[in-house]
Formats: sequence, structure tokens, C-alpha cells
Amino acid sequence: MAKVALEAPTLADVVAARDRIRAYLAATPLRNYPSLDRLTGAEVWVKHDNLLPTGAFKVRGGVNLISQLDGTTRARGVIAASTGNHGQSVAFASRIFGVRATVVAPEGANPVKVEAMRDFGAEVLLQGRDYDESREHCERLAAQHGYRYIHSGDEPHLIAGVGTHTLEILEERPDIDAVIVPIGGGSGAAGAAIVAKATRPGIEVIAVQSAQAPTAHDSWREKKLVERPNTTVAEGLSTRTAFELPQRILRELLDDFVLMSDESILAAVAIMLEKTRTLVEPAGAAPLAAMLSPALGDRLRGKRVALICSGANISPAQLRAVMAKG
Ligand SMILES: Cc1ncc(COP(=O)(O)O)c(C=O)c1O
Repeated sequence: MAKVALEAPTLADVVAARDRIRAYLAATPLRNYPSLDRLTGAEVWVKHDNLLPTGAFKVRGGVNLISQLDGTTRARGVIAASTGNHGQSVAFASRIFGVRATVVAPEGANPVKVEAMRDFGAEVLLQGRDYDESREHCERLAAQHGYRYIHSGDEPHLIAGVGTHTLEILEERPDIDAVIVPIGGGSGAAGAAIVAKATRPGIEVIAVQSAQAPTAHDSWREKKLVERPNTTVAEGLSTRTAFELPQRILRELLDDFVLMSDESILAAVAIMLEKTRTLVEPAGAAPLAAMLSPALGDRLRGKRVALICSGANISPAQLRAVMAKG
């Protein structure tokens, strides 16, 4: 059977998502730090999605999607593959709406995220050496048991939900010149681009991924879905395969896409901690790493830039690596 192409969400879908999630997720703070302004030569606004109840932006999408499932689907249960934050999102939203949730995570998954998913009530199966092996296992289980499979990127309701971060930014600061978004599968950046371009096409939307997992970046540059090795420590940014729907949206709406080394991303974790007293996981610091790179930093000097601080859930091992580098 031919696969039907998923429809990309619109700004109206994001506005509807914002109304749907608001009872469960308060808007997160958008803060300017003079210390980051001084460091970058720009006016930097940090969107603190690290302060959401799961410690990551993905939950905006999970609540939007699961709140719209019908009774039969809710009764069957849901399943997702995740390195942790998408899984936490699914677990958190499932608990609110009384749905049974299973999450398949890689064997070496960040223990902070695994514990949080279990605390939110999900059954967590540790299967596969990386995200994509977990995803394949998850897809087999979904087919076997008839669970509703919640993909981490090819889901219009998820993209509309996560786009609410950029809606909140632009409602509070309509004069933002650029938004920098970290990418793994691309749902967050796709949501950001939909909102920014429909609000004011001149707002630049810039994505950042780890050079140690460049799949989304290379797929965007080559205008086709490609696979790449994935060795990054920033598990939020790690996939080997690219996702069709976010890539289709990004091809049309994204302005620029940069790759940063894991080393620069870990350095940005330390800078976030020192300059803003905010503890973030590597993916959450990637936009700051990009902002501090000469290529992007020079171009954005003097501009008003929002950084999506997408997640807080750093593991003890990652934190030790950050501190060891001083
Ligand atoms: C903290 C964090 N930042 C960024 C991302 C990347 O998001 P996306 O897969 O929507 O590109 C993720 C994905 O899980 C994440 O957990």
C-alpha cells in the first residue's frame, strides 16, 4: 500500500496546540543574560525549556498529541523509541490521560532519563545499541501488539506542539531577529520554522547539530534523506537516519544549519553553568555553542537572538566530562 504523505502543521495548528497544552505546561521563561551579551556581542535571549516538568521541550509535543488520541487508541496503549526526552514526554502525557506507555531506549541510555521515564509511569525496555536500533525494535513491538507508535519526528501533532516554544518567544519578544534550535530528528526546528516564517518571514531560523551525528544536517544540505554514523555524546541530537516530515518542512523554511563539535558543545554546557547558573544537557547547550562559533557569531553580532535551551537532563557521566575539561 502506498504511504500517504503526512501534512505539515501550520501556525494555526501551533496556536491550537498552545491552547491545548496550557493547562498542563506553563509558558517557560525567556531571559536575557548580560554576561552572554558581552560574550557574544549580540542580545541573547535564552528560552528556558529546561524548566518544563520533564526538563525538556519535547513534552510540548507529547501532551498535544496524546490529548487528541481517541478512546480506542488510548485503551490500546502507546509506544515510542527514544534516547530519553521524547520518552519522558510520552510518559508524562500518558500519565495525565490515563494511557499505558512503553518506551524503548538504547542499552546505554542516560540513566537520569531512564529513571524519569519510569517515575512518570512508563514501562522502559532497554534494547539496541543506539537510537535507531531501539526504533527498529519499537516498530516491531508496535506491529505485534497494536500499540499506537509515536514517532519522534514524523508526527504533525508533535511538531505543532513543540513549535509552541517559538510562539511563546515571539509573543513576548516580537522583535527577535534569529532563533537557534538544536536538531536531532528535526521536530523542534520544524516547529520553530513554521511559527517564525508565518509570523515574520525575515526572522532567521538556524539549526545546530553535532558534527559527530550529522544526519539531519547532511540530509538538509543534500536535499534527500541520508544516513550518517552517530557517535555524539549529546544523545538528544543523535540519529543515524533522517525523518521525512521534519526534513520536508526544513527544506522549505530553514535558513541555515551548522555543525558543532562535541567538544564545543560540552564547553557551552560549562559556559551556560558559569554565566547563567543553568545546568543543561549537551543538546540544550548546542545553540550557545553555535552562537559562540566565529562563523555564526560574526554574522549575528548586534542582533537579537533567541537560543532554545531545549533540555536539562545531563547525566552524571556527562557532567563529570564537562567539569574535567574545566
Ligand atoms: C534536549 C534535546 N534537545 C534537542 C533535541 C532534538 O530535537 P528534535 O529531535 O526535535 O530535533 C532533543 C531530542 O530529543 C532533545 O532531547
